[in-house]
Amino acid sequence: MHKKIKLALLASGKGSNVRAIVEAAKDPQFPAYPGVIICDQKSAPVLAFAKEKEIPYVFLPGQHFATKLEYDQMLLTLLKQYQIDLIILAGFMRILSPLLIEIFPKRILNIHPSLLPKYPGLNAVGKALQAKDKESGCTVHYVDSGVDTGPVLEQVHVPILKEDTLETLHARIQVQEHLLYPKVIRKICEKLLAMPETKSKSMG
Ligand code: GRF
Repeated sequence: MHKKIKLALLASGKGSNVRAIVEAAKDPQFPAYPGVIICDQKSAPVLAFAKEKEIPYVFLPGQHFATKLEYDQMLLTLLKQYQIDLIILAGFMRILSPLLIEIFPKRILNIHPSLLPKYPGLNAVGKALQAKDKESGCTVHYVDSGVDTGPVLEQVHVPILKEDTLETLHARIQVQEHLLYPKVIRKICEKLLAMPETKSKSMG
């Protein structure tokens, strides 16, 4: 394999999924590499991680833009500037506008801590606990213009234990997220690299 897929990793917080993807990408056989980390929160640990690992990063706070569209136009400029092939949302707390979704069809992935279509949106782990569900899990899906509504790629089920709290359940879901997200990214990138237009030129 001569070429790799260039990833943009978008996150707003801790960045444990970003870490897992960066770790997986150390494998020479992994078909993608982190091209840039983009974060909208100044104190997010994911920014410190990017600096520590010397991965290119951009801090892009929402407050600097009058509208969501202006923000996403800047995001688009950055994605083009970095020649990004695939966008990975990993705890990025903003909803992307249709502008980006149209320009990157099937080129934006997200991970969500529930068995979608159950519990899209905020507090998915808490909702599963409140509903006294027997299981929860995580889902990697393509991003469309809805909130956590795009086509599901893969899911992992996680049993809910009687003694679970929000923290213990989310921690067990995250263990699975860190395995699932790199695995799905690997598959998608291998497919992208096998496509004739990806072989001949860079996307984005
Ligand atoms: C994850 O649970 C993910 O499913 C959700 O946001 C959380 C991000 O966690 N979209 P982290 O910042 O990667 O640790």
